Amino acid sequence: DDDSPSASTDVLVVGSGIAGCAAALGAAREGSDVCLLTKASRPDEASTDWAQGGISTTGGDPDSFKRDIVEASSNTADEDAVNVLVDDADAAVRDVLIETLEIGFDRTGPDADGDDFDYAREAAHSTDRILHVDASTGTHILRPFLSHVDAHDRIDVREDTAALELLTHEGAVHGVLTDETQSGLPVYANRTILATGGIGSLYTRSTNPEGSTGDGIAMAALAGAEVADMEYVQFHPTAFAGDDPFLLSEAVRGDGAHLLNADGERFMPDVHPDAELAPRDVVARAVATERERTGEVVLDVSPLDEPFDESFPDLAATCADRGLDRDRIPVAPCEHFLCGGIDVDRWGRASLDGLYAVGECARTGVHGANRLASTSLLEGLVWGLRAGEDAANATESLDHSPVEPPELRDTDPALPPRFAAEKFTRLRRTMDEYLGLERDLDELGRAGAVLRRLKGEVDAYTRTRTSRDLYELRNACVTALLIARAARENPESVGCHYVIDDAVANAPSGQ
Ligand code: SIN
Repeated sequence: DDDSPSASTDVLVVGSGIAGCAAALGAAREGSDVCLLTKASRPDEASTDWAQGGISTTGGDPDSFKRDIVEASSNTADEDAVNVLVDDADAAVRDVLIETLEIGFDRTGPDADGDDFDYAREAAHSTDRILHVDASTGTHILRPFLSHVDAHDRIDVREDTAALELLTHEGAVHGVLTDETQSGLPVYANRTILATGGIGSLYTRSTNPEGSTGDGIAMAALAGAEVADMEYVQFHPTAFAGDDPFLLSEAVRGDGAHLLNADGERFMPDVHPDAELAPRDVVARAVATERERTGEVVLDVSPLDEPFDESFPDLAATCADRGLDRDRIPVAPCEHFLCGGIDVDRWGRASLDGLYAVGECARTGVHGANRLASTSLLEGLVWGLRAGEDAANATESLDHSPVEPPELRDTDPALPPRFAAEKFTRLRRTMDEYLGLERDLDELGRAGAVLRRLKGEVDAYTRTRTSRDLYELRNACVTALLIARAARENPESVGCHYVIDDAVANAPSGQ
């Protein structure tokens, strides 16, 4: 009906982490009017705000940075994508983070204008090249970035607004349907950039904020966009092992902390020549094995050169708040990052006309089967800027008049109380059991059956309401099914995807 309310813009960005902010800035700088929608109402609802270790630069040695990314990925990273990331890295960091946002990265000296940054090191990096602010880098980047974007006269930020569906016509994306009104408000756009982040909420334990329900990936896949590498779910080796897990940054191991089993033995030197700084998947599996074998693994910060509360004051404060003995912080692996996602090219263009994806929801190919530490903020920044710029410079504008937004009737049937919460619990248990650190391909059929049944139960209610938790649950089911399918179709153990039978068959003798 022609009287239905709607909105329109040149470039629509969905998501308010570093990738969404960079996309909005990139498009606005090229003269586009931008609408940035976010379901968040606070900065800490974006994963960027939770990022600890930092953002990698080339550290003056782009070739070794490229090599480290490719090696951490077990040689599966896409070389063209790695070249884009590394070739753009230093200019993007300098231009946006240092000059525009004036982020106060930690320095070794008092010269605020010099290049005396305190470059840090993390696992599988061959040199010190990571810019950071304490181990709370994400917060220190995101908050000024959001303020900058909010104050920009070409960018209209709409908080607490979720995208429910992509609007499509003949294979092109024309914007999204939002939950701004009960029956869904269409926001039309010539170009739509998804920057909706990761999938932590598909698992019981994750280092992501709760809203990480795979929204962009699910919406894009439902609209027919290609996704790739969905089986590569990265688990961080060192999150607090108790309830309400929090991340203990790899930077702590980068500074010399050890992992000890319940017998007080350091086990990583026997597992990998780089010991605690081996690639993440290797450390994560070793931590899980030692926990199972001996009952506990702790992070021992006593070998650090400087006292823990001087090098990592925020983490030390968190440990103190939780009443933890800081010399023996119990750790366990925890879902951290999805290396795959919506398949995009070097400009963030997805397989549907008018659609882009950037940040964690995108699969650029940079990470291959396993992501190198401190490349996710960088990937979000670099691809966000590139996609924003490309979207702004796209010449043709779409005629939205033939688009028929899906009709949502907020009518029947009443949603049972705790419906979404209970289904989420079932979904997470299934993902924990079948799609965690190790996968048994013979059992994945069972996971698929549970997830398909769940999705069927949820589909009975979407379309009749705009309830946000219902859509998040729908998105989580769709994304979980994509992960289960990709895992089942890949019999080879590589990076984050560890297939039990294949790993046994391929293990060197004696292991
Ligand atoms: C960390 O601080 O350990 C996380 C860094 C990352 O995931 O890139």
